[in-house]
Parts: sequence; C-alpha cells; structure tokens
Amino acid sequence: MSSESQKPATPPDRIPDRVIVFDTTLRDGEQSPGFSMNLGQKLRVARALQELGVDVIEAGFAAASPGDLEAIQGVSRQIEGPIICSLSRCTRGDIEASWKALQDAPRRRCHVFLATSPIHRDFKLKMAKEEIVRRAVEGVKMAREKFDDVEFSTEDAARTELEFLAQVVEAAIEAGATTLNIPDTVGYALPSTYAETLSYLRKNVRGIDRVVMSVHCHNDLGLAVANSLAGVQVGARQVECTLNGIGERAGNASLEEVVMAIKTRADVFGVRTGIHTEKLYPASKMVQQVTGNLVQRNKAIVGQNAFAHEAGIHQHGMLTHRETYEIMRPEEVGFTKSQLVLGKHSGRHALKERLTELGYRLSDEQLDKVFADFKLLADKKKEIYDADLEALVIHGQLLKGLALWEMTALSTTSGTGTLPAASISLVKAGGQRFQDAAAGDGPVDAVFKAIEKITGIEVRLRDYRIQSVTVGEDAQGEVSLEVEHETGVYRGRALSTDVIEGSAQAFLDVVNRIALRIRPEEQVQEEKSALGRV
Ligand code: KIV
Ligand code: ZN
Repeated sequence: MSSESQKPATPPDRIPDRVIVFDTTLRDGEQSPGFSMNLGQKLRVARALQELGVDVIEAGFAAASPGDLEAIQGVSRQIEGPIICSLSRCTRGDIEASWKALQDAPRRRCHVFLATSPIHRDFKLKMAKEEIVRRAVEGVKMAREKFDDVEFSTEDAARTELEFLAQVVEAAIEAGATTLNIPDTVGYALPSTYAETLSYLRKNVRGIDRVVMSVHCHNDLGLAVANSLAGVQVGARQVECTLNGIGERAGNASLEEVVMAIKTRADVFGVRTGIHTEKLYPASKMVQQVTGNLVQRNKAIVGQNAFAHEAGIHQHGMLTHRETYEIMRPEEVGFTKSQLVLGKHSGRHALKERLTELGYRLSDEQLDKVFADFKLLADKKKEIYDADLEALVIHGQLLKGLALWEMTALSTTSGTGTLPAASISLVKAGGQRFQDAAAGDGPVDAVFKAIEKITGIEVRLRDYRIQSVTVGEDAQGEVSLEVEHETGVYRGRALSTDVIEGSAQAFLDVVNRIALRIRPEEQVQEEKSALGRV
C-alpha cells in the first residue's frame, strides 16, 4: 500500500451532485505544438487554476522530459489546495518519475494510462488483449505502491470493444484505481455513443460505484464539450478539460464551457462544480498571453464578442430586459462591460480598485509597474477601457524578468518612392547596447530584419495579425505573430497604440522566447530566478 497516507478524491456516492474539475491545460494543453510553456509560465497558469478552484491540476508528464518533471515539482511545491497530478505510462520508470515530481505535494495523484482499442493494440502497442489487461493491472498496482490516489485511463476507449473495455476497467478497479477515466482520445464519439459507452460500464463493471468515473474528450468533431456533458448526464463525476479548450489537434473540452453549461443548465444536470466562475475570464486571458494564442472573438464564454450585442434589435431587447438575449451575466464569468473607467488624472488607488474589480490582485511592486505603464498609456490615449487595463497587466507580466532583449529606440521611414527602412536600438540583459538598420518590403518587414541582424535569430513569418483591443481612433492594437525557427514554431504578442512599435515588440517577444529555448542552461537559470518574482 501507499508509502504515506493521503486521502483520494472523495468518491461520487459521498457527494453525488459534485463534479470534479480536472484541469489538464498544463499537460494535454501544453503538449500540443505552439502551446508550450516554460516553468515560470506553468506556475503562473497553475496559480490561476488554483484561484479558479479546480480540484485537480495535471501539471505534466514527469517521464517525458527533465523540464516536465521540474515543472510538476515546482507546481506541487508552490500550489496548495488542488490535487497535483502527473501522467505516467504503465511502467516503473514513469511511475518513479511521477513520484519524484510529486512527493512534496500536499495532495497528489498518479495518472496511469494504457491504450485499449484494437487499432492501438495492433499498430502501436503490438499487444494482445490479455497483455493489455496484465499491464494495466501491473501499472495500477505499481502506482498504488506509492500513491493512494491513482487514476487509470483506457486510452482510445471510445473506439474499444465494449466488453473488452469493461474487462480492463474492472481489472483496474480491482487493482486499486480510485478514478476511472474513459477518454475519447481521437474525438470520434458522439454524445449519444459516448453516453452509451459510459452507461454500459456503469451497468457491467463490478465495483464501478466505488470509484469516480471520469470523462476526457477531444474536439476533432467539435463535440468535446457536448460529449463530456453527455458523460456527466449518465453519472461521470470528473470532467477533464483545459482552459480555452487547448490540447492535442483540435483541443480538449473547454473548461469554461463545461463549467458554465453545468451552472447555467443546473435545471438539467442537477450537479455543481467548485469553480469560482468570475475567475474564468482572467484565467482564460492568462493562458492566451502565456501561450501567445488568442481565442477567436466569438469563442463561447471568454471571446470578446461573447457578451457583445451589436444588432439594433438585440440592443433594444437587452435594454428592455437583459434576459431576452443573455443567458448568463457577463460578470458571472469575470467579464465586465467595456466601459470608460480611467484617464490621465486617475491615481494609483483608482487603478488598484478597478483592477481588483476585474479580478487581478497585484503586489505593490506589480502595481507600481502597471501604474507606470498606465501613465505612459494615458499620455497617448485619452480614454482607458477595461480591456486596456487588462492588456497592461498581462503584457507587464509577460515582460517581467524573462526578456533577454529589450528595445530602447526605433525609427522607420516609408512612403511612395522611398525604400522602407528601420533603425533600431536594443539592449541585451546585462546592459550591452546594440544598434542596426535594415531595409525591407515595408516598414514592419524592415523592423523585423533589423532585429534579426542584431540578435542573430532568423525566422520565417507564418502569420501576422493586428486586432484592436478597445475602441476609438487611439485604440490599442494587439499584434500577434507566428514564426518558424529551426527549433520550432513560436508565437509572440505585444500591444501598442502604434502598430509599428507593437510589431517590433511582438517580434522581440518571439525572439526572446526563441532565445530562452535555444540556451537551455540560461533558460533554467532565468526561470529559476523569475520564480521568486512571479
Ligand atoms: O486523450 C487521451 O487519451 C489522453 C490520455 C493520456 C488520458 O490524454
Ligand atoms: Zn487527451
């Protein structure tokens, strides 16, 4: 049995109406291309998840890399409240790695998995059914030697023969699994078929009522949330999901959508989660900023348009009675209407109050930095909206401590009949100053080329977008970029009232992300020193 006694997640029969929210943003979300996070970033997201009130944080896959192990360890040492979980294959090495990563966690879980479907058995694992059962049992038992709380996942369950699935699940429960997760790994299920699978297991597996039944759905057909909710309707009491629905390929079930569906349609589900829903929007923003991936405007719950009413008939309805067109209040998910809040004469106190209302609790040091940026912005922009403030907080945090290169001056020339050119000055961490100039196809291209000359980091631009974050002629523009570098694909963002400056800052954001990655020793050092400050 376990080396130290810990309480596993409370089984559903004890709290029949409570759905456990298992967040895998830092594992399934982070492992998909273009969404990777460093240690400092993982910790910031983990804090947001803690504030949100998630029950379980899957912080990584300890055996995948030393960096993953270190990140899980960092999260488990600093985040109290949620259970911290690490993924493992059914091997001693993986389970040992998870133990190493989690042994300091006040509450910990080992999540072991093994594929069960014919296609995975025949082509990936090359194992017969009997061997799958044997390995699953072995894996769960090995995990139980160290952990009281053990989750077992039947990978690709949605494409597994029902009888065999029931056999593996029953064997895993007998071996000591406390949570049984039934993943739709490739997003193949429909709500009706997924519910049938879960109902079949509930009827045919001995001991299923003693464990928590969990759902884990991918979004290949756009059905991850619908399938997860169908699972809840037939008795699943844990939902595995990610903020903004990030994850492998088309993503995982979106946490904010699952949670708000359960809350808004409590009349149908009759269950609840422990999520502080007013923290959903700030947490979503944090993940957008950290990964450099914006959600689309019309994304349910957290998109910029989720509570916007443009059409005249809708506005009229809203004014007469809000519920004519709104099923949730924006404040419930942490959205406040984009309203004029502050201007150039507003003080530090007013700024702090407004930020607190928006869900940001900043240290004095952080507030000083945001206030300084706020004053600079207020000189350039008459009206400061909530979205401006949020952008300042988020971008201020982005630059804090981790930037290798910073821009000190920029000038560009362009116009009909002239060759677009840019001259730029950068300072490198440590204080060394550099200046160079370049010509390009346009001023933005010239800026990128000048930065490449100074930093020696060359990339191929894959995507370049500018989106206004607020309204008015002096609105701030958010520039987002995606580039290809020999070490991978990177995304960066920046915000400015001047699109050329914003483009330069976004390009530097990308360059900084690349520089930190291709200098692993320095990356580790910088992240360690940043940890004390995030
Ligand atoms: O999608 C999946 O099957 C997984 C498992 C490892 C739980 O992510
Ligand atoms: Zn998955």
